[in-house]
Amino acid sequence: MKPFVHNIDKEFIFTDEDFIFLSQLAAQHAGINLTEDKRELVYGRVAKRLRILNIDNFKEYCSLLRQEGNEESGHFINSITTNVTSFFRENHHFEHLANNVIPEIIRKNANAKLPRLRIWSAGCSTGKEPYSIAMVLREKIDNIDCWDAKILATDLDSDVLHTAEQAIYPIDGVDQVSDERKKKWMLMGTGDNASSVKIKKEIRDLVYFKQLNLTEQWPIHGTFDCIFFRNVAIYFKRPTQVNILNRFADCLDSNGTLFVGHSESLIGLSERYINTGQTIHQKIA
Ligand SMILES: C[S@@+](CC[C@H](N)C(=O)[O-])C[C@H]1O[C@@H](n2cnc3c(N)ncnc32)[C@H](O)[C@@H]1O
Repeated sequence: MKPFVHNIDKEFIFTDEDFIFLSQLAAQHAGINLTEDKRELVYGRVAKRLRILNIDNFKEYCSLLRQEGNEESGHFINSITTNVTSFFRENHHFEHLANNVIPEIIRKNANAKLPRLRIWSAGCSTGKEPYSIAMVLREKIDNIDCWDAKILATDLDSDVLHTAEQAIYPIDGVDQVSDERKKKWMLMGTGDNASSVKIKKEIRDLVYFKQLNLTEQWPIHGTFDCIFFRNVAIYFKRPTQVNILNRFADCLDSNGTLFVGHSESLIGLSERYINTGQTIHQKIA
């Protein structure tokens, strides 16, 4: 731990005590592990809230968060989540979905009157991940409108969910999407909106956004064919990772697929999956 510093070169005084309080709050509310090396990040993110609220030191901000029923806790959590995402991020997952997972789901449903498909994007951020999944579903299942098909997309951060529901993105944020897909699944803005795109209704209609804290109870009914849990576990401590991975196994169909992020591994965390590809895991039936 760094010694107590009256950081005179900074806009706001930020003490060890303030950092400890905020990191404990982040761990309690969201399972987010803010280690000592995140001190500058916390300062930078939370300083924005102090400016908005016209508060001139962290001590006062922490007092506000200590008040029961305060409305700031949600904003604090939103400020410390990391929401980096992109369309077709780690594209090999979408190829696996298209070439392996979906054909298997189609085969499983061959005799079903109402074929069923459920995918969960857990920690969906601004929606680019679930909308990428929806594009693949539309491309691979011609008669998807005759299916009971849903993508559940959840996040703790209410700000990113708001963006996700709007489904409008700056045009430079869709670079990873092929021109063919852009043409097929996105509406290009015109006039004042020329620098943005909107996801088409047939894609939006497959996705259901909900606020959900992965470290709390999940109001989830039924099972999923696959779960995308990518680039979220890295922010949690090991016991939280273990707990969530095992609960995902309870929510997956037998042989269901779990996708995790490029720097995440299940080794030593859960024995309920086998590795079937690069950061791709299958539930052991
Ligand atoms: C880096 S983004 C990953 C987005 C997407 N899955 C991807 O890989 O592109 C991590 C997301 O996890 C969310 N998150 C963090 N803690 C969470 C929690 N306890 N419950 C639910 N979501 C959480 C954050 O709000 C953030 O949007």
